[in-house]
Amino acid sequence: MKEPVLAPSILASDHAQLAKSLQTIKSEGLKWAHIDIMDGHFAPNLSFGPQTVAALRKNSDLFFDVHLMLDNPHEYVEAFANAGSNLISIHVEPDYSIKDTLDHIRDLGCQCGIALNPGTEVKAVEPYLKSVDLVLEMTVQPGFGGQSFRKEVLEKIRKLQIIRKAQSLSFRIEVDGGVDLQTLPLCREAGADTFVAGTSFFGTENKQALITLASQQS
Ligand code: DX5
Ligand code: ZN
Repeated sequence: MKEPVLAPSILASDHAQLAKSLQTIKSEGLKWAHIDIMDGHFAPNLSFGPQTVAALRKNSDLFFDVHLMLDNPHEYVEAFANAGSNLISIHVEPDYSIKDTLDHIRDLGCQCGIALNPGTEVKAVEPYLKSVDLVLEMTVQPGFGGQSFRKEVLEKIRKLQIIRKAQSLSFRIEVDGGVDLQTLPLCREAGADTFVAGTSFFGTENKQALITLASQQS
């Protein structure tokens, strides 16, 4: 079992004070920040670009877990690596050379992840499981924070966990969307070890309950 990680998503924080949001994560003793990148095509929203990530990097030594929700991630991995990302996840759904892009991310000195939407079957990511550090299972449709967790996705997390064990692989299983005090334990029980939390982290003054819950081993 990997050490559990809580990765707050700055999408849910005050965008006028992103550097401060990273300080909040750090001051809570956490190590990862989840940064959502959306292009208005793959996901119906726009968020941050490489310039934002580079500016944040100057203000923070947190581990930047960068989630590219783009139709053409292969054209941007270099810019996001140069901006100071530590891990870059790309989606399996768009049409581009996924294996080459994962290799490229590694060559650029970052860890790499493969992401899948709630409606995408686990078998779509199976060819890449040996090549990635992390599988990002979306537990909502990409685009917006604050949506309800989709319980039907738990079955896919169980599948990933079974494959990971059977093949003695070591990728993290990250869940992203609607993760809170109620749904985090369900994800952990299914096999997840890396928990993105936007609204449930930045939307409350009392972050300790979530932090304590996320730090428990399964
Ligand atoms: C959705 C993003 C998520 C989002 C999660 O497109 O990938 O990372 O910030 O937000 P919450 O935790 O509010 O559902
Ligand atoms: Zn995300």
